[in-house]
Amino acid sequence: MKILVTGGLGYIGSHTAVALQQAGFEVLIVDNMSNSSIDVLEDIASITGETPQFKYLDLRNKEDVHHYFKTHREIDGIIHFAASKAVGESVENPLLYYENNLSTLVYLLQECAKYEIQNFIFSSSCTVYGEPDRLPITEKAPIKKATSPYGNTKQISEEIIFDTTQVSALKAIALRYFNPIGAHESVEIGELPLGVPQNLVPFITQTAIGLREQLAVFGDDYPTEDGTCIRDYIHVMDLAEAHVIALQRLLEKKNKTPFEVFNVGTGKGSSVLEVIQAFENVSQMPLNYKVVNRRPGDVTAVYADTGLANNELGWKAKRNLEESLRSAWKWEQKVKLKKKDY
Ligand code: NAD
Ligand code: WQD
Repeated sequence: MKILVTGGLGYIGSHTAVALQQAGFEVLIVDNMSNSSIDVLEDIASITGETPQFKYLDLRNKEDVHHYFKTHREIDGIIHFAASKAVGESVENPLLYYENNLSTLVYLLQECAKYEIQNFIFSSSCTVYGEPDRLPITEKAPIKKATSPYGNTKQISEEIIFDTTQVSALKAIALRYFNPIGAHESVEIGELPLGVPQNLVPFITQTAIGLREQLAVFGDDYPTEDGTCIRDYIHVMDLAEAHVIALQRLLEKKNKTPFEVFNVGTGKGSSVLEVIQAFENVSQMPLNYKVVNRRPGDVTAVYADTGLANNELGWKAKRNLEESLRSAWKWEQKVKLKKKDY
């Protein structure tokens, strides 16, 4: 079976490409390398022994997308990762986000209709829930007004896919990721944030390695036990494996409705201070951090009810926070060594 992975050179896409190949799928990748590099292709191959078929493609170019599908008729399913994902940047440049995250989806779905590709997995996000009324969050929780253009693109994307499944043969699953962290066990691939990381774990590892002076903890006056925000941090390989299982569900026609949504998290919430503590345990070194003011837009606590994914999808996260942080730390050390080589 041939699976097209859009954005397959990126963080989650590359880990999913590995999981797909190891499950016996043939992987085709398209990417415009706006947030990734071609080196990742060989890094994937160094784990699996197989280089995915790659084509440079900017999915915003409708003609190029059409040409790609015209010349690749053998695709059985698509996992669509390609998107822009920086929340702050989306506030500053909303049109970039509406164009890159929505037009690309529309063009892909148009090709699915033309070439009868019926199996589609979409990268959604827990950001669609906003500040939840109840924890843990189930898939039935109301979708509130998005707090950023990025979040809005995920809400609209889910609606676009739902509407399409109602009038065509398309079957789709949206996976709502919580907070992906860590790297493949081999540390051949991992997260490579451009510039100053916005996310907690890359900022922690870059501080520990000496690239950043100090981690700023954004607020300790939240209504949580230690006053810092709570999130559901999930190992990127657990997340990657969820994609393989979701894809198999569609290919085996086990889906209950044409459009299904699953939370993909661990179900366990950890505070910022707990993450720092766990990192210090794993790395056996103290982390330089300081509590500062809250970051605008942060919600107090978010963690998944994973019941639906566990029972219906048959998927459960296997790796815990320490294991995820250990792999993130090993990856940061590897990146430093790699940089020295150049
Ligand atoms: P990433 O930036 O590492 O990967 C995205 C890839 O898509 C990159 O390789 C980029 O070059 C490519 N891309 C972007 N626009 C493109 C275009 N127009 N044409 C072709 N390729 C394009 O991001 P990621 O963390 O791997 O995220 C993957 C998906 O998961 C995204 O849709 C993101 O919104 C979603 N998501 C990510 C997180 C997270 O915390 N990382 C959480 C929830 C959801
Ligand atoms: C986690 C916690 C921060 C950095 C973002 C997106 C979301 C989704 C996942 C895509 C928060 C605190 C962080 C730092 C800190 N992405 N923090 N100091 O905000 O939960 O989610 O990534 O869909 O849409 O918004 O993740 O890693 O930025 O923050 O104290 O330097 O760490 O306040 O409590 P977040 P994060």
